[in-house]
Amino acid sequence: MVKTTVSVIKADVGSFPGHSRTHPKILEAAARRLKEAEGNLIIDSYVTHCGDDLELIMTHTRGEDDEEIHRLAWDIFMECAGIAREMKLYGAGQDLLGDSFSGNVKGMGPGVAEMEFEERGSDPVLIFMADKTEPGAWNYFLYKIFADPFNTSGLVIDPSLHEGFIFEVHDVMEKRRIRFSTPEESYSLLAYIGAPSRYVIKYVWKKNGIIAASTSTQRLSLIAGRYVGKDDPVMIIRAQSGFPAVGEVLDPFRTPILVAGWMRGSHHGPFMPVGVCDANCTQFDGPPRVICLGFQVCNGRLIGPADMFDDPAFDGVRLQCCELSNMMRAHGPFEPHRLSLSEMEYTTLPAVEKEFKDRWEDIPK
Ligand code: 13P
Ligand code: 13P
Ligand code: MG
Ligand code: MG
Repeated sequence: MVKTTVSVIKADVGSFPGHSRTHPKILEAAARRLKEAEGNLIIDSYVTHCGDDLELIMTHTRGEDDEEIHRLAWDIFMECAGIAREMKLYGAGQDLLGDSFSGNVKGMGPGVAEMEFEERGSDPVLIFMADKTEPGAWNYFLYKIFADPFNTSGLVIDPSLHEGFIFEVHDVMEKRRIRFSTPEESYSLLAYIGAPSRYVIKYVWKKNGIIAASTSTQRLSLIAGRYVGKDDPVMIIRAQSGFPAVGEVLDPFRTPILVAGWMRGSHHGPFMPVGVCDANCTQFDGPPRVICLGFQVCNGRLIGPADMFDDPAFDGVRLQCCELSNMMRAHGPFEPHRLSLSEMEYTTLPAVEKEFKDRWEDIPK
């Protein structure tokens, strides 16, 4: 049976004003290019944005890491960066770190989440896209969705979920990976993923190896070796029939957790779930936000999207995020609003510290 691949590839190619949102001309150009590729390289596509990040959603039968799919995404990003430059949009070409494509967009700046699967009789897929945060922001939610029985009642009452899931965690600093089996190793998993700036959940599988979730783990600053912009990750999750229900996948986003990546990639702030019409960063360039589009995948076609956070059920968390934002902003330049010193190494702070390097003296004994 032919397998379907869902590829979500994203980049910030320039935005207006400042880092707030993508321009409609860019969305149009990207959508047109993907439509031209439909029936040829890809089966179906959808283009959207979260804040200043351009999101390309594609379906095809070529598997993960396919050179032609990645080339298509890269070419679209380059063309859109050109449009951004013509309008002098802010940060035109921001996330495009290489000049020429060499087989895979990973390591060149864009974020990539992909999964290949045999379609079930009915295959609901949820695609999450975030702005002003880092890939580890998904850790909390993936744990709640696939390993917390207080969130996902299916883990307790549905025989097809009862055995648990396998999590693949990447150490983005040391470039190594490890797998944990839950519920047996839940506490060990938490020991790592509770440090989301370094340990990032890349995949979740059923115990029989069937894919359940896939995220982008690219850290822009680690690729560039300097601060460019924030990673602004994406995530794909399959739901129902052997996976958590759609509502179980969405429910943890009712909790307003603090994530890293707000203002200049240097601050913690509350992660606000919003409808696509509100996926524009404003207050202090944020707050960090997440959108979710729901599709039914049908023979590679994307039936949808449904704008999942465009719902009064999430008004409460949005209000809580505004309150938390006031509390965090009151810290001004102080931690824990500002990131810890080790994380600030990848921001513009070291350039300031350099100025004072020679002014420091030893404290007399
Ligand atoms: P239905 O009975 O509507 O299929 O819903 C089942 C389910 O999983 C709801 O969370
Ligand atoms: P982006 O990473 O979304 O481009 O934001 C950068 C920034 O500095 C926001 O304050
Ligand atoms: Mg930007
Ligand atoms: Mg962004």
